[in-house]
Amino acid sequence: MNRATRNARAAALDDATLISLCHGIETPAYVYDLTQIKSRYLALAAAFPTLGIRYAVKANPHPAVLRQLLACGAQFDASSIGEVRRALEVGAAPHSISFTGPGKRAAEIDEAVMRGIGHMVVESLHQAQQTSAAALRHGSVQPVLARISPVASPKGFGARMTGVATQFGIDEEDAPAVLSEIAALPGLALHGMHFYAGSNSLDPDAIAANMQNCAQLAQTLSAFLGQPPQRLILGSGFGVPYHEGQAALDLAQVAAKTLGTLLQLRPRGQPAIDLELGRWLTAPAGQLLTRVLTRKSGRGATILICDGGFNAHLAACGMMGSVVRRNWPIRNLSTPDGPREKVTLAGPLCTLIDLLARDLDLARANFGDVLSVGLSGAYGATASPAGFISHPVVREMIWDGTRLTDQTPSGAMV
Ligand SMILES: Cc1ncc(COP(=O)(O)O)c(C=O)c1O
Repeated sequence: MNRATRNARAAALDDATLISLCHGIETPAYVYDLTQIKSRYLALAAAFPTLGIRYAVKANPHPAVLRQLLACGAQFDASSIGEVRRALEVGAAPHSISFTGPGKRAAEIDEAVMRGIGHMVVESLHQAQQTSAAALRHGSVQPVLARISPVASPKGFGARMTGVATQFGIDEEDAPAVLSEIAALPGLALHGMHFYAGSNSLDPDAIAANMQNCAQLAQTLSAFLGQPPQRLILGSGFGVPYHEGQAALDLAQVAAKTLGTLLQLRPRGQPAIDLELGRWLTAPAGQLLTRVLTRKSGRGATILICDGGFNAHLAACGMMGSVVRRNWPIRNLSTPDGPREKVTLAGPLCTLIDLLARDLDLARANFGDVLSVGLSGAYGATASPAGFISHPVVREMIWDGTRLTDQTPSGAMV
């Protein structure tokens, strides 16, 4: 394990410290700053008092990240049995974990029930029936939340998943009939509902309108069932400003526009309401470091070929659901004050599509310079096709406030 230490009290990782440590870092490497994750969590908890915060493990499942969030008080939402196990391995209580996902294998359902997870989020009647059968086999009653797919979500609410046919959840229009059947299954206790209608929104009004819509739906469906919910999980959709010209979400404004609606749902402190989110908590606390391997100029362009491309960071290359490819925030850490130039950043893969940035305004970079791709603490290492073309696996480094350590998971291929 590489260790680099700074003689100081715990503090967020600044550029000067990172630059001083860069020479010892194998690239490409993600660097996650646990101090930033903690401060973001605390800001969120302060803005939304009395609500639970549920972290979507898929955003960044690194054990150190999970441990930090758990220590802050987060609960976890898992989307596979592998994520359930990761959450348990870092010490999460089984009853605090929820398990979403439209395609759960029978063995995953069985293991989750056997391990006593808190809430199985059932996305179809079939999944509910499988969960009920598993609970009966294990002699337990499994608490479940029904995932509802709303007919509509507001304009500006990030990647929208509503109103069209998707694999996710029980369609709002079918919900009364399906929920009645789920409520009657003998192995289940229907505790409430789960909503996740979109992600990466930077618009407080759209976020508020979505929450209003989900709150309304929860009320209508609970009234239909004649059963007040014990728990609601609301996908928050809080986004981060990946692209030039975007501004960070104003948390105070979002809270001012949404808290009233949410608290109206629980006049006597029930149901428990959890905000579910991933990227807002971890993306700004991470960066990908990649070194320049080669500089090529010709045909009117300057191309920097780096050691990390879409094999290390699919999302930054615009390949994770982006409609239009736009540059992420990328800086030259080694030579930040060099003359500015417009460059194309390519990755190391033998394919034309391996591009990190086009027409990027960057301080002039040479062979060996380390570039930083910001906002990379979510949907990075584990969301990228590491095996393609067998390059060295991307490293994962943890900054704990005083030390930077290489904590690449031991199962990763080198
Ligand atoms: C069910 C569910 N919850 C939460 C999230 C986290 O979304 P985000 O990272 O945008 O907050 C996702 C992301 O796909 C999801 O599918």
